[in-house]
Amino acid sequence: MINKIRFYSKLGYKLIKKEVISRDDYKEEYDKVSETYHYWLKEMGRYTDNIIHSKHIEVDKELKILDFACGTGYITKGLLNKSTEYKITSVDQSDKMLEKLLDRDNPRVTASQSDGIEFLKTTNERYDVIFFGWALSYFNHNELLKLFNSVLKPGGILGIITNVEGTLDKIESIFLNVMSEKQEEVIKPMDIKFNLPKGKKGLVRWCSKYGFKALEVEEGEVFFSFKEPEELLQWLNITGAAAGTRKIFKNYHEVKPLIIEKIKKEKYKNGVYEINHKFAYGIFRKE
Ligand SMILES: C[S@@+](CC[C@H](N)C(=O)[O-])C[C@H]1O[C@@H](n2cnc3c(N)ncnc32)[C@H](O)[C@@H]1O
Repeated sequence: MINKIRFYSKLGYKLIKKEVISRDDYKEEYDKVSETYHYWLKEMGRYTDNIIHSKHIEVDKELKILDFACGTGYITKGLLNKSTEYKITSVDQSDKMLEKLLDRDNPRVTASQSDGIEFLKTTNERYDVIFFGWALSYFNHNELLKLFNSVLKPGGILGIITNVEGTLDKIESIFLNVMSEKQEEVIKPMDIKFNLPKGKKGLVRWCSKYGFKALEVEEGEVFFSFKEPEELLQWLNITGAAAGTRKIFKNYHEVKPLIIEKIKKEKYKNGVYEINHKFAYGIFRKE
């Protein structure tokens, strides 16, 4: 008990001092994930299509579009296929993710390797549309939505798809328990809790605070099951779903057996190991 109290006060102290997984850590993590991110796209890209193909985004009009935290460019490529009229700026901080953006030589695409916040603060460009896929947890949403508002033209459109609270059920507590039991291995915690909205209602609340009106909004949940706990952990790592967690520890391989033991205990259901991805997406207009 005393050990737990000591652990949580140490954790709280690190969070206050902002000794947490940093932008550089996420960059390194996504540089690695770039080789396997297609596994995520194969299963989850179909949900991103809902915002790419929204009826609220005109097809036959020349639009300046920002694909923010574009990764390997799933949204960029979808937009290039959707219309020949779009001019797209694709920004990501991971050069390795950007390298996979095959259409970066396309004259209609400007690829930029940059921290997203720095980009938004320094760009003189004003956009008709911003797309933002699966990266909200890496940003402070208050800072980000304010900046989105400032780089969008009046009446501009914001398309978001994001994980929401309740996604990856029990994974956070599994990692916290491992950290508590292997305190000597912990370098720094992650700080993403405040950056996931509570479902589609939460997403609307966050966006409306910064001047965005919801035109359409939906939510969903999908489940993946695996025969072995090791496979579930591998899925979290290769897709980027648990990006950052490997950086918590001095030696990830030292703590991996304990993570697997906990997955075995917590995630077993009906003969398989199951993980959920809970998400919301929407199209918003700057009022
Ligand atoms: C889950 S991927 C999403 C990629 C893409 N939007 C998609 O829908 O497939 C998250 C992306 O956010 C990027 N990212 C995380 N933090 C960032 C930051 N501070 N600035 C720019 N990109 C960032 C990562 O490098 C990664 O490519």
